[in-house]
Amino acid sequence: MAVDFSRREVSARERMDEPDCDLSTLRRTYARFELLNALVSGWRRVYRTAVRPALIPGRTMTLLDIGCGGGDVARHLAAWARRDGLRLQVTAIDADARAITYAAAQPTSADVTFRAALSGDLVREGQRFDFVTSNHLLHHLTGEEFTALLRDCEQLCRGRVLHSDLTRSALAYRLFTPLSLAFPGTFIREDGPLSIRRSFTRAELAALAPPGWQVQPLFPFRHLLTYQSVHA
Ligand SMILES: C[S@@+](CC[C@H](N)C(=O)[O-])C[C@H]1O[C@@H](n2cnc3c(N)ncnc32)[C@H](O)[C@@H]1O
Repeated sequence: MAVDFSRREVSARERMDEPDCDLSTLRRTYARFELLNALVSGWRRVYRTAVRPALIPGRTMTLLDIGCGGGDVARHLAAWARRDGLRLQVTAIDADARAITYAAAQPTSADVTFRAALSGDLVREGQRFDFVTSNHLLHHLTGEEFTALLRDCEQLCRGRVLHSDLTRSALAYRLFTPLSLAFPGTFIREDGPLSIRRSFTRAELAALAPPGWQVQPLFPFRHLLTYQSVHA
């Protein structure tokens, strides 16, 4: 049956989001996200162009990673800053306690902490960060959750918000479906193609995002939704 890319596929749920999915497959999925992210997510480039220029030598700056999964992007961001002689204290949160249990059990340095929480919990605590990031989070959200997340990010961030995600398109689906088969024993085989079907197009994001937010293309078949706070 032909896949319809004219709208988001929000009725089908990703296997990794099911509360009763197989735990060992879920843990293998978190483990393989590191390779998948290295191949397609482009965070090294985002760090170089959008994070590092705003880091100030001698000052510890803070970053919140929302929906951290296995925690590899959070760990890499802290490590890249450290290697550049800069200090970035990273808080990584996920709605799913299974992700946090996995992430916290991996070798991690003292500048990264993991916590099971929603962005709204941190807003209620009055927390603020210099950066707020996410990777492959937006496509997990309903329209209402997306709007609430952006509102939370505006309150949580005194600097730059950077949400990186896939772009929905037939070509991305055709190219990434074979790639997802390279991750046997994980949910990536099923969830990868579905993630593209659940993703926003750039035009949808631009239409949904409130004033002050911007969408820019990222290679390959991705976008970066950004916000620059005016409140230091
Ligand atoms: C596809 S995974 C991506 C994980 C990681 N960021 C990466 O790129 O490897 C999406 C993660 O977002 C989490 N998530 C979904 N909705 C969330 C929400 N509202 N708040 C925080 N985390 C959420 C899920 O539990 C899942 O671990």
